[in-house]
Amino acid sequence: MDKILIIGSLNMDMVANVDHTPLTGETILTSEITLVSGGKGANQAYAAGRLRADVTMFGAVGEDSYGKTLLDSLTSAGVDAAGVLRRKDAATGMAFITVNKEGDNSIVVVSGANATLSKEDIDAGRALIENTDILLLQMEIPVETVCHAAQMAKSMGKTVILDPAPVPEHFPVELYRYIDVIKPNETELYMLTGMNPEQNSIEEAAGWIRARGVRNVLVTLGEAGVYLDSEEVGTVRIPAVAVHAVDTTAAGDAFTAAVAVKMAQGENLLDAATFANQVSSIVVTRKGAQSSIPALEEVETYLQCAI
Ligand code: ATP
Ligand code: RIB
Repeated sequence: MDKILIIGSLNMDMVANVDHTPLTGETILTSEITLVSGGKGANQAYAAGRLRADVTMFGAVGEDSYGKTLLDSLTSAGVDAAGVLRRKDAATGMAFITVNKEGDNSIVVVSGANATLSKEDIDAGRALIENTDILLLQMEIPVETVCHAAQMAKSMGKTVILDPAPVPEHFPVELYRYIDVIKPNETELYMLTGMNPEQNSIEEAAGWIRARGVRNVLVTLGEAGVYLDSEEVGTVRIPAVAVHAVDTTAAGDAFTAAVAVKMAQGENLLDAATFANQVSSIVVTRKGAQSSIPALEEVETYLQCAI
């Protein structure tokens, strides 16, 4: 099985379940806040570990108790997190999340140590990239760091997967050259392309990214499933599994990780996306980020029951 390296963010999530997402200027009350291990990078590493991949995490946390909790969570999932940097002068990243009655979330991330991950850190961690087969990136660390890591990995002939979340204000167009698979959700797809969902179809927007040199575009469409535009397997829509969603947090992260895991096992992108769609349908039925991500055995049992 190929090795997966994830370079990205680690956050402690503070989750408030609310009746509805607060409007601008509105204050609402809720009875409790839950602390859950999160961060897009860490969620993807945790998910890949739970799916039994050979996975390493690189990023930065503070020398505080949240940082330790996040590293312990990754280790419990079988992830090699020994290389994650501990910063003396920055706090571990935090995410403030509301989840409404429909299971939809809104998130504010306080980047903390994630924002300190630099190009020099990537240079110092070069051996991690040399030793991997697949590099998985997201955009909760500085954009220039993402570009540098992607460029380095590509120059070494590695497979690069980008989850372009959250889409930065200035997305560097040259980044497309280094990416083998990109996985935006629908909102991110339109932000990247500058297209209008009222006027341009998913197919057109994905085609725009393909035209910039990315061979495989996977668009997650929430309860509408997945759209795939791929050099390898063509254009395909995969419907979502019908479930009762209570919290979609980390559904996209689990999806991206599951795709990487199947690619590491040599499967084609259609089979990888089909499996990932099933994994994410479990995630949305549970609350929280890493707390909602299933182990491989749970996914296998779930798939047997679905037959
Ligand atoms: P996140 O909430 O983690 O940011 P995302 O916006 O990146 O997620 P989505 O497109 O919302 O990603 O969802 C990712 C995948 O999760 C979907 O492609 C689908 O497989 C699954 N999924 C999401 N919502 C549902 C749902 N209501 N029912 C079934 N599956 C779902
Ligand atoms: O994708 C979900 C994640 O986004 C949360 O765990 C939160 O930390 C934010 O980074």
